[in-house]
Amino acid sequence: MVPFLALHLDRRMGSTLQHQLYEQLRAAILAGRIVPGSRLPATRILASDLSVSRNTIAGAFDQLLAEGYLEGRVGSGTYVARQLPEDLLRVAADPPMAQGRSNDQLKPSQRGQALAAIPVSLTSGESPLHAFRPGIPALDEFPRELWARLSARLLRHAPTAALTYGDSAGYRPLRRAIAAYLGAARGVRCSADQVIVTAGSQQALDLTARVLLDRGDTAWLEDPGYLGARGAFEAADVRCEAIPVDTEGLSVDLGLTLAPKARLAYVTPSHQYPLGITMSLPRRMQLLAWARRQSAWIVEDDYDSEYRYASRPLPALQGLDSSGRVIYTGTFSKVLFPALRLGYLVVPEPLVDAFVSARALADRHCSGIEQIVLTEFLGEGHFARHVRRMRALYAERQHALVTAVSHELGEWLEISPAEAGLDLIGWLARDSTDRAVSELAAAAGVIAPPLSAYAVRARLRPGLRLGYAALSARQIREGVRKLAGIPPATNPPVSRDSDRRAIFAKARSNRG
Ligand SMILES: Cc1ncc(COP(=O)(O)O)c(C=O)c1O
Repeated sequence: MVPFLALHLDRRMGSTLQHQLYEQLRAAILAGRIVPGSRLPATRILASDLSVSRNTIAGAFDQLLAEGYLEGRVGSGTYVARQLPEDLLRVAADPPMAQGRSNDQLKPSQRGQALAAIPVSLTSGESPLHAFRPGIPALDEFPRELWARLSARLLRHAPTAALTYGDSAGYRPLRRAIAAYLGAARGVRCSADQVIVTAGSQQALDLTARVLLDRGDTAWLEDPGYLGARGAFEAADVRCEAIPVDTEGLSVDLGLTLAPKARLAYVTPSHQYPLGITMSLPRRMQLLAWARRQSAWIVEDDYDSEYRYASRPLPALQGLDSSGRVIYTGTFSKVLFPALRLGYLVVPEPLVDAFVSARALADRHCSGIEQIVLTEFLGEGHFARHVRRMRALYAERQHALVTAVSHELGEWLEISPAEAGLDLIGWLARDSTDRAVSELAAAAGVIAPPLSAYAVRARLRPGLRLGYAALSARQIREGVRKLAGIPPATNPPVSRDSDRRAIFAKARSNRG
C-alpha cells in the first residue's frame, strides 16, 4: 500500500482536477516515488482525502490503467504496473547514478570531507562482546527487566506533557539528581543549574570545543589520549597539541614548552585514558594554576571513575577549582550501557546559556522519556546498587584476565592488576611492535588495540589494550587461549605516525 501520496489539486488551475491527478500520479510513478507493484489507496479514501468526487479519482485511474501505468486486480484494488509501458522503460533504462561509496558528483563540502577523515574510535565496527574490545561494561548484567518496568510505568502514567519538547539543558529532576550524585561521590561542587544533560560525553566534548574555542585556537591533549576528544576538537578546527603524559599525568611543563598559548587542556585525571594513571595532586594544582594564569579552560573527562577497586577515587579536579576554569564531563555509558546515550556536563554558571543554546541547535535535547526513567533509576537506589554489583564483578573479571594471561602468555605479555576501569594494558617486550602483534591478534580473532595507536609523539613501551568488563570468565579464558596461539613479533621498527593513519583507515572501513 502507498502510505502517503503528496498530491495537491488546485481548482484555480487551468486543467481539470482529474487531469491534475493523472499528471501527478504519472510523474510519481515515473520518478519511482511510487514503487512498481504497490497498491494505491481506494478511490473512496482518496476522494475523501482530496475533497473531490469519487468519479474524478476513478477517471484518472482509468486513464492510467488504459496507458499501462496501473493494473487493476478484480476485488483487490489498483496497483502500480510491475512492467511499465515500453517507451517509459527506455527512460528508466538510463544508467542509474552511481550510489557506491565514491562518486565525484555527490561530494560533501570541504568541512564534510574533513569530518569524514577524523577517526572516532579504533574499534567501533567490532562486536562489543568480542574479547578484548576495551571500554565496554557488562551489558548482559544490566537490569533490563527493572528498566523495562520503569519505562512501562512511565509511559502508562506520565502526564501527556512528558511527551512534548523538553528543556535543552535536560530534565530538571535529573539535573538535580546528577548534581547531588557528583557532589557526594566525586566532590564536584555545582548546583543543578550548572548541569547539562548531553547525549554522552562525546556530545559534551563537541559542545565544549565549539562553545569555548575559536577556529585556530590551540588545545592540549593528553598523549597518548582519547581519540574521541581529539576528534571533537579537530572537528571544531582547533589545533590539537599532543602533550606527553608522565607518571603524574599530563606534563604541564611540556605543555608550556610545546604550546605556551593554548586555550584549553583536555585531561582524564581520575584514570588517564588509556594508560590508567591517576593525576597527582601537585600536577592538578599546577594545571589549575596554569589555567588561572592563562585564562584557559580545563576539560575534565571523568568517564569511568565509578570503577575503582583498590582505593577510593580521588575527588574530581573540578572540586579544587576556585576560579571557574574547569568544565567537567561524565557519562552513563560505562556505568549503565553506551546505547543509552546519556551523559552530562558541569559548566561554570556564566557559560550555561551558551552551552544550552548550542545544544538546542544541535539536537534540542536527549530523549525525555529516557531521562525520566534514569531519574527514577537513580532516585530509587538502583543505580548505586548496580554500581556496587558491577564493581565486585569487574574486580573478579579483571582477576580472571590477569590470572589467565600470567598462566598462558607470561612469556611475552606482562600484565598487572589495574586499580580502576574496564580494561588494562598488557605490556609487550620493549623491542616488539604492538601494531604488528595487534594485527596477529586480530587474525586470531581477538581485538587488542595497540597502545601506539593512541599516541602522537609519545614514545611508549609497546602494549595492547585489553577490555575485560563485558566478558565472562570463560570468554576471557578463550580470548587468552587465542592470543596464546599467535607468535610474538620481535625486533620491529618503531611505530610511526603513518602506521597510526593506516590503523585509523582500517578502523574507518570497519565502521562501515
Ligand atoms: C575517555 C572517554 N571519554 C568519554 C567516553 C564516553 O563516551 P560516550 O559518553 O559518548 O559514550 C569514553 C568512551 O569510550 C572514553 O573512553
